[in-house]
Amino acid sequence: MLLAIETSCDETGVALFSEEGKLISHLLYSQVAIHSPFGGIVPEIASRKQLEVLYPFIKNLLAQTHTEVSQIKAVAATFGPGLIGSLLVGVSIAKALSFALKIPLIAVDHLHAHLTAVFLEKEVEFPFIGLLVSGGHTALFWVKSFFEYYVIGHTKDDAAGEAFDKVAKILGLGYPGGPKISQLAEKGDPEAICFPRPLLESKSLDFSFSGLKTAVLNYVKNHPSYKIEDLCAGFEEAVCDVLITKTFKAVEALNIKRVVVAGGVAANKRLRKRFLEKASTIDAEVYFPSLEFCTDNAAMVGLVGYKSWINKKYADLSTEPYARAVFQKINII
Ligand code: KG4
Ligand code: ZN
Repeated sequence: MLLAIETSCDETGVALFSEEGKLISHLLYSQVAIHSPFGGIVPEIASRKQLEVLYPFIKNLLAQTHTEVSQIKAVAATFGPGLIGSLLVGVSIAKALSFALKIPLIAVDHLHAHLTAVFLEKEVEFPFIGLLVSGGHTALFWVKSFFEYYVIGHTKDDAAGEAFDKVAKILGLGYPGGPKISQLAEKGDPEAICFPRPLLESKSLDFSFSGLKTAVLNYVKNHPSYKIEDLCAGFEEAVCDVLITKTFKAVEALNIKRVVVAGGVAANKRLRKRFLEKASTIDAEVYFPSLEFCTDNAAMVGLVGYKSWINKKYADLSTEPYARAVFQKINII
């Protein structure tokens, strides 16, 4: 069996995969309630909580699945990108298990795991255009095969999820902002307030969301009696327009009519609906992981871990976790 560990941010995830690559079980502990009063994640609190939760969590997973430690034949952990303190907790336990049990250690990249999470439930043909929209990252990928992918556009400032979280903070909605804004937006008119669509007309596939957040802040200051449902709907619509337009620019430029949308923001109902509508106009396919696999989880880490295991892509005890994303960017436009 393969044990997978995810501790890149404020979620503690553990998963168990069979030697045939089947997800046996996965558990997730969310720290949202702890960080919510601060309006965002406090890194020091996140890593301390990871330390407290991870070990008992692994023991729980093994107990629930009637698994002996000796049955674990490989261990995979997220090595980055993420909060370094949180990453170190998962990586250290993975290294200790690898050393003590003399089993392969596998380093999983968190962005790779998000991008391929869809394979937990369905097979998608390669190549595809991958849009990764999470709290930490917003990037477009040209995914040629499971292990070969290139960044073709990314955000120059805030990530899309970060914009949702910052706008929610401005509106006093708490953390995380995405689900709260999305719920309010459902009752609002997306056309009542027209927010800017940053870089929409630019030829590049890069994104920018910090100006949009400032536009919301200015609107709130200048219209004290704004209708929160319309504001959320208008903001969500602007984010959707940008993400969809850029993704389909990539579809056209590479002539790949297959898209995978992944990461926490891919859980957004309006985004999913609008992506499907747009895809149907040009006969393209769009895939999303189900909601539980959009946001952080260890199942997606286990899947990359399993594929790495069977391809003998191993790390070793000297492999270090990393806070910042490492990827190859190519310009296709
Ligand atoms: O992928 P994820 O769990 O963590 C990172 O790797 O960052 O993404 C978390 C982000 C948060 O910014 C959260 O506000 C956003 O995903 N999110 C959503 C929704 N659910 C989560 N954004 C928009 N609509 C949602 N329904
Ligand atoms: Zn993530």
